[in-house]
Amino acid sequence: MSDVWSKLRINHRNAEAAGRSITDLFRAPDRFDTFSARSDGMLLDVSKTGIDAAALDLLLALAQEADVAGMRAAMFRGDRINFTEDRAVLHTALRARETKPLVVDGGDIRPAIQHTLDQMNDFAREVRSGGLKTAEGGRFSDVVNIGIGGSDLGPAMATAALAPYHDGPRCHFVSNVDGAHITDVLRGLDPATTLVIIASKTFTTTETMTNARTAIHWLRSALGNGATSHLAAVSTALDRTAELGIPGARVFGFADWVGGRYSLWGPVGLPIMLAIGPERFREFLDGGTAMDAHFCTAEPRENMPLLMGLVGIWHRDICGYGTRAVLPYDQRLARLPAYLQQLDMESNGKRVTRSGEVAAHGTGPIVWGEAGTNGQHAFFQLLHQGTQVVPAEFLIAAEGHEPELGAHHDLLKANCLAQSEALMTGRSFDAALEIARAAGFEGDAARRQAQHRTFPGNRPSITLAYPKLTPFALGQIIALYEHRVFVEGIIWGINSFDQWGVELGKELANALLPLVRDEGGEAKNASTQGLLDALRR
Ligand code: F6P
Repeated sequence: MSDVWSKLRINHRNAEAAGRSITDLFRAPDRFDTFSARSDGMLLDVSKTGIDAAALDLLLALAQEADVAGMRAAMFRGDRINFTEDRAVLHTALRARETKPLVVDGGDIRPAIQHTLDQMNDFAREVRSGGLKTAEGGRFSDVVNIGIGGSDLGPAMATAALAPYHDGPRCHFVSNVDGAHITDVLRGLDPATTLVIIASKTFTTTETMTNARTAIHWLRSALGNGATSHLAAVSTALDRTAELGIPGARVFGFADWVGGRYSLWGPVGLPIMLAIGPERFREFLDGGTAMDAHFCTAEPRENMPLLMGLVGIWHRDICGYGTRAVLPYDQRLARLPAYLQQLDMESNGKRVTRSGEVAAHGTGPIVWGEAGTNGQHAFFQLLHQGTQVVPAEFLIAAEGHEPELGAHHDLLKANCLAQSEALMTGRSFDAALEIARAAGFEGDAARRQAQHRTFPGNRPSITLAYPKLTPFALGQIIALYEHRVFVEGIIWGINSFDQWGVELGKELANALLPLVRDEGGEAKNASTQGLLDALRR
């Protein structure tokens, strides 16, 4: 641990010992201006945290020490920063308009990216216009995307987020291997007008392959050989897509330098494009690119991903908070917390550093959340008065998509601002006592009531405000979070781009399948055996 880490800890300890609160930091007249950043109409406010000017300097020094800027350049130029898999990390190239050659493995990758994007555009236009016919010569009304993890969460989240822009076929998503999922999605759909996209980077994922076989059977039962014209695939494994009988012209490929959880910018985003059209999809990519440019060029103190990452480090390592809540005050971002769970926790849920040592500090926190205002009526009680502090991350648009329901949006904004303020300022015992007395309580009864009505406050939050949830803004938001995860991963010295931690469970599931099917064998422990017995049909 470097000197900077110790100085940060001392800064935090001193502030605690002095009883300094977040509200005290607002005595500095420029608190909001100094602790907020802007990019292309978007504002990130980190002023409602316990980070003071000295701590910010130290956090920026930490970023410098970890060479965040150097690693950022390495990522964008295609160095193999995913060192355990020996791969470049170039999801940023999928959204770039740049044409200057970007060389990976001796070849310029730009032409192939453009070719795939053109292929997607053509396909989407044909499906949306009705030019691409169903087996019976009609028009596709529905699209079912079969994928899981990065091949589901991104497109599912973004498609829901951009509902006001939907003018193409209806898009549905099947991910869970639980037969209930595909049953409930296919029920009510007509195979004669449904296009099925099988999305899997590896094309080996058990859940996706199982659901794909069920969907193909569903199509074949209704359409016979015509089913083939209702299938498309998205994958890096083009040989495997052929094995499943998907025509080559309907296969959209991408390379191994795109991580699954970073893949919605390319062909994995096909359902988004089908729903909103190629032009809007381009705006979405442009939002991501705008955030890339900001990340690469903005001064450190003005740099939104850097600041957000540093706030994350502060909360996780210096304050010791184990989780963070993502609270979009935007119903259409209701799936954002689930999406960020994969982006953040699969990226930074690591315990071994680049040098192969077990990390001496905390790494990725638990990410969770729910759309506001719904969350207020569920778990906000704990945020305000629970015994653990949960840093909150609010997201709010200046404008909704329903101008005729402006009163709704005013309420949404007021609630969002009220929550971050309440978390920070709390309510003192004296103020609570006054309220209890006003409610008719006296003496000890009033004091007891006041204890329960006291809010400790001093609970940190950050707020991301954007003009409106457009495709461009969504692109900015997702790229912002991607780069935040990157910044944190670099400072923690971990590899944010592999996911070995999901392998063991997969292996054990394969080993247990014969036991579940009663095909012989014994469980490795009494608990699993006992559960197997209980689950025997
Ligand atoms: O199990 C984790 C994971 O490998 C994720 O990283 C990935 O997004 C998901 O599975 C799906 O993988 P694929 O796209 O190869 O089916």
